[in-house]
Amino acid sequence: MPELAEIAFAEHAARLGPQIESALDEMSRWGDGCPARLAEAMRYSLLAPGKRVRPLLALMAAEACAGSPEAALPAAAAVEMVHAYSLIHDDLPAMDDDDLRRGRPTCHVAFGEATAILAGDGLLAAAFELLATRLMPPEAGWAGCAVLAQAAGPCRLVGGQADDLDPARTPDLPTLQSIHQRKTGALIRVSLRLGALSAVRGPVSPALWRAASRLGSPTPISVEKEAGDGEPSFSAETDAHAAGLPPASAEADRPWLAHLAALDHYGARLGLAFQIVDDLLDVRGRSEAAGKRLGKDSAAGKLTYPSLLGTEAAERLARQLIDRAIEALALLPGPTHGLESLARYVIERNR
Ligand code: IPE
Ligand code: IPE
Ligand code: MG
Ligand code: MG
Ligand code: MG
Repeated sequence: MPELAEIAFAEHAARLGPQIESALDEMSRWGDGCPARLAEAMRYSLLAPGKRVRPLLALMAAEACAGSPEAALPAAAAVEMVHAYSLIHDDLPAMDDDDLRRGRPTCHVAFGEATAILAGDGLLAAAFELLATRLMPPEAGWAGCAVLAQAAGPCRLVGGQADDLDPARTPDLPTLQSIHQRKTGALIRVSLRLGALSAVRGPVSPALWRAASRLGSPTPISVEKEAGDGEPSFSAETDAHAAGLPPASAEADRPWLAHLAALDHYGARLGLAFQIVDDLLDVRGRSEAAGKRLGKDSAAGKLTYPSLLGTEAAERLARQLIDRAIEALALLPGPTHGLESLARYVIERNR
């Protein structure tokens, strides 16, 4: 029997999914100059049946900020391109050496290593072209490029991946939290930020766009605090600071900064919980459902939440993070049921 959260999420995915799929298809038709085999490899990985969590977050964040999901489609496609690139490279023999992804042979198995590396490179660059040319208003496109570059870059996704593979990293919880927040959390946080940027309207100041073009340092999340006694953990001021957002410089910026901070509070917790659940699936999931090989982290010596805390405590922490994530949604001006259902789905998922 599917869980209630799964049904609610499935409804939102059915409502928004077709728009995402057709945007991905339309926005990945590379023309003159792109070799047919390279285009085929890029589309093979991008259009394979992923859960589309990041594009859904972008669309749902736009709705939660009283904007339209349609306006967020270029952002949704761009984050999925960066995600697909990161999966292609993550699966390479020199990294996790996987042969199955989204229920299909991995890109390098299907097309060869050189083409897979280039397909990843191509998707990464294409994401920025898309944001710069199609995310509106133009200021959202510029701020979006900057903040996505930061999230995908050496201090976030790429840095997290490097530490994930480094056998000399310290095997403790702060190190692990930092790896997860960078390799997975940053792209989840930025998906929400981009969706929100697509909804910004009205006379905001240039300072707002500048502030929105930076993600703060990954918020250190204290396990004890998340497990706290029901006190709401969200504070617009502390969270704005943690998200790298300055105090509002202009009156009109104030509500937007509060919305970005609320989404970042949600995203930081969701992002960490998402990777904890990925680690848990590796221990106790089923490969046929997940569409990838499981049970590999421990053999590969990966630092994971189940290996440090045990599966029960890791699962408890993921649930607490999801509860805390959802608290911040009350501050948003538009419908947030999609974001809430997605957060609940993340802990129930089997793929
Ligand atoms: C897998 O991401 C890699 C991680 C960051 C954990 P997803 O679980 O979102 O994979 P897809 O997109 O559904 O294939
Ligand atoms: C992947 O983490 C993170 C990125 C791709 C950036 P994992 O290596 O745990 O993801 P899976 O389990 O292969 O999907
Ligand atoms: Mg990996
Ligand atoms: Mg992997
Ligand atoms: Mg994994």
